[in-house]
Amino acid sequence: MKVAIGCDHAGLELKKEIASLLSEMDLVCTDYGTDGPQSVDYPDFGERVSEAVSAGREDRGLLICGTGIGMSIVANKFPRIRASLCNDLFTARMSRLHNDANILVIGGRVVGKDLAKEIVRTWFSTPFEGGRHQNRLLKIKHIEERIRGISHGIRESENC
Ligand code: RB5
Repeated sequence: MKVAIGCDHAGLELKKEIASLLSEMDLVCTDYGTDGPQSVDYPDFGERVSEAVSAGREDRGLLICGTGIGMSIVANKFPRIRASLCNDLFTARMSRLHNDANILVIGGRVVGKDLAKEIVRTWFSTPFEGGRHQNRLLKIKHIEERIRGISHGIRESENC
């Protein structure tokens, strides 16, 4: 499985820990930055990871900012992305079982490194349950398609 990881300055230290864990778990991990402690804008790094997963170049994504909220907002703008902000084990497990989440977001200023690692292990080892949840994901896909149609319509009318 190919995993894209990214963070802002508030998630850098935790990202380093998580990157080594992913390698230990035999996952192929590509780091999309940021690489240094200087202040950066989380949308820039959230976009890189989310775009790669949305386009199918990566199987899953993992994003870390201070709270995880900003990265979640960015990631869920992208088609086919189901990003889940999981700062505890229960939501990590449920986001895979029920939501088939394909991007895990963690708040680097919210959870300690040991809990974060356990969240990552749980998230990657939990399968999607399918069944009734599959139909709900289909509804999300239809919402995405309708929204795309609406924004396409807006662009067309702007061209008149
Ligand atoms: C950066 O200070 C912080 O705002 C960012 O890491 C994140 O928590 C945003 O949601």
